[in-house]
Amino acid sequence: MERDGGAGHEDEFGWGRVIALFGPHRRRVAVVVGLVLGVAAIGVVNPLLLRRVFDNGLFPAEGDTDLGLVVQLSLVMLTVTATSGALGVWRTIATNRLGQDVLRDLRNRLYGHLQELSLSFYSGARTGDLQARITSDVGGIQNAVTTTLSNILSNVVTFISAIIAMLFLSVPLTGLALLTVPLFVLATRWVGSRRERFTAQTQAATAEMSVVTQETLSVSGITLAKLFGRQDREIARFEQANDDLAEAATAQQVIGQAFFTVVGTFMGATPVLVYLVAGFLIDGGSSLTAGTVVAFTTLQSQLFFPVARLLETTVELQSSRALFRRIFAYLDAEPDVVEAEDAVVLRSQDVRGAVAFDDVHFAYDDGPETLDSVSFTASPGTLVAFVGPSGSGKSTILNLVARLYDPTEGVVSIDDVDLRKLSFESLAHVMGFVTQESYLFAGTLRDNVCYGKPDASDAEVEKACRAAAIHDRIMEFADGYDTVVGERGFRLSGGERQRIAIARVLLHDPRVLVLDEATSALDTASERKIQAALGELVSGRTTLAVAHRLSTIQSADVIHVVDHGRIIESGDHDTLLAKRGAYAELYREQFGDGEIETTCADGVVYADGRCTFDAAFHGS
Ligand SMILES: Nc1ncnc2c1ncn2[C@@H]1O[C@H](COP(=O)(O)OP(=O)(O)O)[C@@H](O)[C@H]1O
Ligand SMILES: [Mg+2]
Repeated sequence: MERDGGAGHEDEFGWGRVIALFGPHRRRVAVVVGLVLGVAAIGVVNPLLLRRVFDNGLFPAEGDTDLGLVVQLSLVMLTVTATSGALGVWRTIATNRLGQDVLRDLRNRLYGHLQELSLSFYSGARTGDLQARITSDVGGIQNAVTTTLSNILSNVVTFISAIIAMLFLSVPLTGLALLTVPLFVLATRWVGSRRERFTAQTQAATAEMSVVTQETLSVSGITLAKLFGRQDREIARFEQANDDLAEAATAQQVIGQAFFTVVGTFMGATPVLVYLVAGFLIDGGSSLTAGTVVAFTTLQSQLFFPVARLLETTVELQSSRALFRRIFAYLDAEPDVVEAEDAVVLRSQDVRGAVAFDDVHFAYDDGPETLDSVSFTASPGTLVAFVGPSGSGKSTILNLVARLYDPTEGVVSIDDVDLRKLSFESLAHVMGFVTQESYLFAGTLRDNVCYGKPDASDAEVEKACRAAAIHDRIMEFADGYDTVVGERGFRLSGGERQRIAIARVLLHDPRVLVLDEATSALDTASERKIQAALGELVSGRTTLAVAHRLSTIQSADVIHVVDHGRIIESGDHDTLLAKRGAYAELYREQFGDGEIETTCADGVVYADGRCTFDAAFHGS
């Protein structure tokens, strides 16, 4: 089991780790911070100039309006506005670039790490929807990484710079303005929590409506209602759900408006308060000027938006917290199957291909023991078959041969080298695996065949495809080997896919071949076509096969009968039959005398056309 760190690290999560993601981009972070500070600081310049426009330009204490000064200051203020706009655009671009680059690095790191993780990470039920989850998790933190962090900074700085400028204008008025902020926070929070509640109610009501319609407006639902005369009841039920929806949706919209009303009310009411208090102050002998009061109220309007934005941002951050935690958990997951530090490198030409299991025990995810003391040796170049009931552990044995998992106890070795000591690359070179489900990725047929040997020549590819009896079929496509298959392309039949997979392994030319029900999903015709290909594939290599064809089994050098994770019988076909044990039983069940119509070259054909051996072992 992978240690995914999720639950255990609950408390260790800190935003520090998120901020550390920006580490490699320190210089650009500095630029962004500079721009954020700059834009926020410039925001207070115009209100401060406003004071001079009023007190020295428009309404000087002595003399007439100083038009020259007003024009001059207006020009400056326009320039400031333009500069602030330009810097704002630059800030937006820099922030998003930086955020996207951080996100890109994170995705690369995550993908690289996920490639390293062992199969057990993917096969666990808990991670069944892994792919979708990772995509949506990484997508979900996009905002947090690109804009949220700079938003926080920007709003905090705007808020603080507004307060500093206000203090500069009038300390008592600033005190008054600051008193309104907690009220504003309380009011918006109150509205916010109601908004959340009504949103949830609307969603629930919508869901209920669609349940009712789906249930009742189908052929069977309508039939049922008609037959039992329940239509009035169904209509009443629908009307109830519909009422609930209308009510919740109204509340949701009203409360949404209320949010803006709260902000608007504060923005409208606070200047009035300021005028009022200013009046008392001036009356009490204060030297407040008209310009100061105007500048002050302008600045004050800059106080509420940052606060509102910060409140929203905290909510966003709370929700992205869970996503960050999961992403870090993926990054913290450690692979079970790891390459040894001083891994042995085998040169392919030196490999004989002797495979041995020595007292191997294995369990998936701390589950019950799946393999119980399995020992056998497969001499170089021999064909070893495994038969046994479904779930007996045949695939598990083969998975251990390919080191998709490591044994819990015991040793799996190739040429007497423990697989755990072998380099991944050597193992991949030595080993070829054909499974029941052959996977073709989106790409051309050539790409798919060349997967294990990207530098193969066209002649080699064709040779492999001919041997796998798929060349002629490929040539039937207009684009031949350049035909695009997989998700984006069109689909091949199961048999064709299987033959592509066999061609892929033939080209890879491994010393040890593992076949796990490589043809059991095929119909008789496809299977017969593959037979020659399989013969080609098997010859001259050590082959471990979960056998599903009588011919494969009969020609196997050794057959191991697997039951409940143990090898209970071993020997060749004739020996095992003569022994009248488990194998003979399995054989008789499947090939009982009366049923056999003819024995064809590649197995047994029944009256109903079945030609497989494996069916009895797989619960049909
Ligand atoms: N990835 C897995 N995680 C947990 N249990 C598994 C996994 N794969 C197989 N098993 C269990 O291990 C046992 C042996 O399975 P398997 O080797 O696939 O059997 P066979 O190939 O003989 O049908 C079964 O009980 C199966 O449920
Ligand atoms: Mg299996």
